[in-house]
Amino acid sequence: MFYEIGKKHGLPHDPWKSCVVPRPIGWISTINRAGIANLAPYSFFNGCGDFPPHVMYAPLGQHVDGGAKDSLANVEETKEFVCNMCTYELRDAMNESSRHVGRGVNEFETSGLAMEPSQMVKPPRVKASPIHLECRYVKTVELPSWSDEYRNYVVFGQIIGVHIRDEVMTNGMVDIRKFKPIARLGYLDYTVVENSFAMPFPDNGAKAEREKESPRPHVKQPAE
Ligand SMILES: Cc1cc2nc3c(=O)[nH]c(=O)nc-3n(C[C@H](O)[C@H](O)[C@H](O)COP(=O)(O)O)c2cc1C
Repeated sequence: MFYEIGKKHGLPHDPWKSCVVPRPIGWISTINRAGIANLAPYSFFNGCGDFPPHVMYAPLGQHVDGGAKDSLANVEETKEFVCNMCTYELRDAMNESSRHVGRGVNEFETSGLAMEPSQMVKPPRVKASPIHLECRYVKTVELPSWSDEYRNYVVFGQIIGVHIRDEVMTNGMVDIRKFKPIARLGYLDYTVVENSFAMPFPDNGAKAEREKESPRPHVKQPAE
């Protein structure tokens, strides 16, 4: 099939979000000027730069009270955020933290999640999350949108500190089978990432040799 965005596709739901999958979940904690913490999941989220590393998340539409979502308003006010990585075990609390609640409500509290202080930024971390990226706000980019009520923003931040709990590491590397991050698919579907396969870069023999020297036991090698 082919359909043109903005025109009738004849399907029960627009399938485009099921085509760009899986999308990792950036569980974003911020803090406002008054010091109230905020937490919300964003699946329009990814790493998007290196040397130094950057991430992005995209707050779309409006807050239930009108105006920018808290994760956008707060980061523009206080210039810092944390990406807490979400695991299968934390899925229900993550979902609960997406509830549209009034401004000034701390979703750590409404989702039953303990806060843990960050090292380099003011927003707290989700204590139960095994990986946290402490970030400094870089900029907001506004993308085109079809209505003034539904605006498309992308927030970019630079990662300045990384916490990784020892329990999700094997031989000094993040072990996907221990980490078990969840990610968004289309519709109401999610996936949990717990296996992987390796493929050396075609033009990077030295790196391939290094990988051979320290093999990751869980990584399936493609059949010869
Ligand atoms: C798994 C998941 C992914 C989400 N991804 C996004 C997203 O990428 N962009 C967005 O604007 N809202 C997204 N939402 C909805 C927000 O989490 C929700 O609007 C939240 O209330 C925003 O909170 P805030 O105002 O505290 O930032 C997502 C919700 C869930 C459960």
